[in-house]
Amino acid sequence: MCGIVGYVGDRKVAEVLTKGLSSLEYRGYDSSGVALLADGQTKVYKAEGKLQNLKDLLATKEDEIKTANVGIGHIRWATHGVPNETNAHPHTSNSGKLAIVHNGIIENFKELREELEKRGSIFKSQTDTEVIAHLIAQEYKKINNLQEAVRVATAQLEGAYALCIIHQDVPNTIIATRRNAPLLIGLGEGENFAASDVPAIIEYTKKAVYLDDNQLAVLTPNSVKIFDKDNNPVAVKPEMLPWEPIALSKMGYKHFMLKEINEQPDVMRNFLSGKLYSADEPIKLEEVKLDKAKLKDLNRIQVVACGTSLHAAMVGKYVIEELCEIPVDVEASSEYIYRKTVTDEHTLVIGVSQSGETADTLTAVKQSKARGSHILIITNRPDSAMAREADSLVPVNAGIEVSVAATKSYVAQLMAFYALAIHLAEIKESADKEYLKEIKNELLLLPQKIELLLTKTDKIQKCSRMYSSSKNFIFIARGINYATALEGALKLKEISYINATGYPAGELKHGPIAMLDETLPVLSIMMTGKVYEKILSNAQESKARNARMIALTDSTDEKLDDLFDFVLNVPHVHEMVSPIMAIVPLQLLAYYIAEFLGKDVDQPRNLAKSVTVE
Ligand code: AGP
Repeated sequence: MCGIVGYVGDRKVAEVLTKGLSSLEYRGYDSSGVALLADGQTKVYKAEGKLQNLKDLLATKEDEIKTANVGIGHIRWATHGVPNETNAHPHTSNSGKLAIVHNGIIENFKELREELEKRGSIFKSQTDTEVIAHLIAQEYKKINNLQEAVRVATAQLEGAYALCIIHQDVPNTIIATRRNAPLLIGLGEGENFAASDVPAIIEYTKKAVYLDDNQLAVLTPNSVKIFDKDNNPVAVKPEMLPWEPIALSKMGYKHFMLKEINEQPDVMRNFLSGKLYSADEPIKLEEVKLDKAKLKDLNRIQVVACGTSLHAAMVGKYVIEELCEIPVDVEASSEYIYRKTVTDEHTLVIGVSQSGETADTLTAVKQSKARGSHILIITNRPDSAMAREADSLVPVNAGIEVSVAATKSYVAQLMAFYALAIHLAEIKESADKEYLKEIKNELLLLPQKIELLLTKTDKIQKCSRMYSSSKNFIFIARGINYATALEGALKLKEISYINATGYPAGELKHGPIAMLDETLPVLSIMMTGKVYEKILSNAQESKARNARMIALTDSTDEKLDDLFDFVLNVPHVHEMVSPIMAIVPLQLLAYYIAEFLGKDVDQPRNLAKSVTVE
């Protein structure tokens, strides 16, 4: 995980780096640091904790760094070694002349460290990264050519890395290289950039090159040269980045999470545009490269994902099985990759990932690809590593999601699953046409209904205040909304740190009911449809154990007020699309509870938005 950035040019280097790092905070935020070449010397500044600590430190060093024209920066999510100043990047060689920043994990760092120590390297940190600094420094000593030293040193690394390197004896230069970790090079006029992701450079340039695995770039203010692993020059083919800096602003909202929740109706409309205008027309999903013959040849679908994306996949399973008559398995990628799965050319494997960089899901997708499966990727990042593995790529177009807690990307992933299921059902002719029409109609109406819900949040806010002191929380649901219960619980625990769990309502009586008493809130997700009465009975079982009763429902039954202490009403929707409606008040509940408790909503402790380690 972690984010890296590099800059060479005439701007205030520290400012470019810290601004870049602040837009990469979704990759980690437990410590940060920069290294600058100023007055012919490598100068390193690091701080534990939030990026603001580094900014405050740099503000006191203005005189020392004002002549800098090259620099590299890092924001960390700790893997090896606790988050403190020593373990923060940049890491340096014995002499302190060479500095590097690294995103990734070096698997053979122990062996390398032992070797390097024998040859005289003195280690200061517990990180895997520091071995890279010493390794390059030792190679540089031998061959006196930084580019070649980096090439020879990285060839000895096992694992994943994106690196930026500077050396005080090689002025005006950054060396950048990568393997299995993202890195792009931004091209400017008289200045150049390197970064883990687009937001770090988009303010300065829209022209960029994505480095391929094992490529190495040499950046100076007026040139960018790229080489392959054997040192052959590679043509620099810039592409235009389709990003707008405005996407990174909170637009007047207190937190990105609240802004992103409120963007959901537009995200849904955006997803449907060009795909579905009228319920009478077939859905257009040209991104899916599966025809009738190929579909006939498939005997199963496996969906791999993590966290919130896994919950979207669970809804997807329900919808695809309902409409397409194909068995679907959903599995956490981290489990899928370490067992023998029955996956072959007759399996459609769907990888779901907001970031398209999640290491577990990426590995799962690569493994299935090697077994001959058709790979369909649902992602918010069509420029990501996962997208590059796709035979069929379905971008969800939710726009950049800054808050660590996923909200709008979840709703966009759900839209993608509905579109995919309808599309497959229309090709296979596996579902009743009138039924499909009903669902398409509901999808078209949903953005407006959610907009309505978002204008009336008073009751959700009141409920959040009432239950914010709870230490535990239970969410129950059945059928298609079981995943909603899991997602509601995940949202609450990740931003408020309240111990929240989602259960299939029918399972409560098989154990969890033992926990119920007058202190424990049980939130029943009761969307009208097939299982409404069943879950009502399960809610009654909780009431009989004196639990604190909350309902989330699109029913207008007034009798619910007798059973529940608090009823959160949402506009009525068709049961099949109800997970999209039901999740929104739960996102808001989690948001307002965390906000009320004074938690760091957009950057909860211990987390990172992009989990690029297994
Ligand atoms: C959701 O709120 C999370 N922060 C997290 O569970 C996330 O969904 C998970 O890490 C998967 O990420 P991805 O969608 O980018 O693959």
